Amino acid sequence: MVTRAIVIFGATGDLSRRMLLPSLYNLHADGLLPKDLLIVGCSRGAMSDFPSAARTWVSERLGSQFDKSKWAELGDRLLHATVDANVPESFESLKSVLDGIDDVLFYLSTSPTHYDAICRNLRSARLAGSNNKVVVEKPVGSNLRSCQAINDSLARAFAEEDIFRIDHYLGKEAVQNLLALRFANTLFEPLWNKVSIEQVQITVAETVGVEDRWGYYDEYGALRDMVQNHLLQLLCLVAMEPPASLEPDSVRNEKVKVLRALRSLDGREISKRTVRGQYSEGFAEGRPVPGYTSEPGGRRSDTETFVALQANIDNWRWAGVPFYLRTGKRMPRRRSEIAIQFREVPHSIFPGNALPANRLVIRLQPEEEISLTLVNKTPDLDQLTLRPLSLNLSLSDTFSKARRRIAYERLLLEALNGNSTLFVRRDEAEAAWRWIDSIEEGWRRQGVTPSPYPAGTWGPSSAVALAERNGHSWHE
Ligand code: BG6
Repeated sequence: MVTRAIVIFGATGDLSRRMLLPSLYNLHADGLLPKDLLIVGCSRGAMSDFPSAARTWVSERLGSQFDKSKWAELGDRLLHATVDANVPESFESLKSVLDGIDDVLFYLSTSPTHYDAICRNLRSARLAGSNNKVVVEKPVGSNLRSCQAINDSLARAFAEEDIFRIDHYLGKEAVQNLLALRFANTLFEPLWNKVSIEQVQITVAETVGVEDRWGYYDEYGALRDMVQNHLLQLLCLVAMEPPASLEPDSVRNEKVKVLRALRSLDGREISKRTVRGQYSEGFAEGRPVPGYTSEPGGRRSDTETFVALQANIDNWRWAGVPFYLRTGKRMPRRRSEIAIQFREVPHSIFPGNALPANRLVIRLQPEEEISLTLVNKTPDLDQLTLRPLSLNLSLSDTFSKARRRIAYERLLLEALNGNSTLFVRRDEAEAAWRWIDSIEEGWRRQGVTPSPYPAGTWGPSSAVALAERNGHSWHE
């Protein structure tokens, strides 16, 4: 018997095809999806056979992991509703589909331009409120003002505890593991501060270009598309104080304190502490690729596809410790990682040996790995030679039997269960935009435009200079 529902707006779109429906299928196949859950896909156009279209998308995405019989069980619970965000009557027909169900999760996977109308119409149709919840995809706005406007629209229809702002990085296994690493081990916490840590680097490098999203991407650029959400979330998890529990507000209170302690980058700081880049033609995985402006749909543009910056967190724990953030498209390798560089030993008793500082690297992608570099002696009788070696923990090898999950699987499950620890609270999203706006504003005032870098390289040379200015270098 069906007592709950998930309603996906934008059900025929890319996110739904590649992530949401395959994640729901995987959860079902693993016996984790509530058995009483109806899945309603909404789109503007009528669809004669949504379940069979969904089956094709999911089987294409999952390949050999797709099991026909499992799908058949799920296919029965799949429905389509024709809903136009701007047509109130169409919400009445959605209401009749949901008749008798009083626990509904609405997933807004449409352009954010429709969020206001969807919330308004859900409210008028009395579909918002009571046990119902809403999930919103990024981007929640393109600056503080538009983020506040979206948040206001959401708040008119739903209570804050029923609003789930997604950042899919928070659903990644390795990001979860960061919490375990920090707060389930006694080893690191005493060292996790300015006394022992020299600098932190967060890199999210992609080999892909903008693909077929030029129009969207050009409005945002790397700063707003990646730093405002994914990189700042990683920074928060690295830098926050230990929360008292995993309760949603306990964790989110600590994250928002970090965001509020970020020093604004304005005036002269902007050109010293930030680098904007845009890829020109070059190579990706050995084949020639066009520059950003020559991609399909492209034209002359001052949007950055790469950004590197130095953030500072003005609080006792982190005073004086640079946090370097770097993200870009068309980098030489796909690599997302957090590198924590400890300080050098204060005094060396090993003449003739360089003593590189210890480094902890938490790799999120492509593989999930943790490595700690320690200086060791090489086995040699006649002289004392030291060299750094790594203690490596490969999570993919250790848990080789576990299927690597799509980040959305965990997030969907958490949202269905009403647990918002892994979702972004209103004040958090707004604090992040406040800081990002100060950078955008600085770029505008100082006329900072992106420097070109050939596709397949680590961004403009000024990114190297950014770290070198403090005597540091990027971990590569
Ligand atoms: C999205 C961005 O949020 O994250 C994309 O809009 C980016 O531009 C993507 O490619 C990266 O996600 P992942 O999980 O592949 O690292």
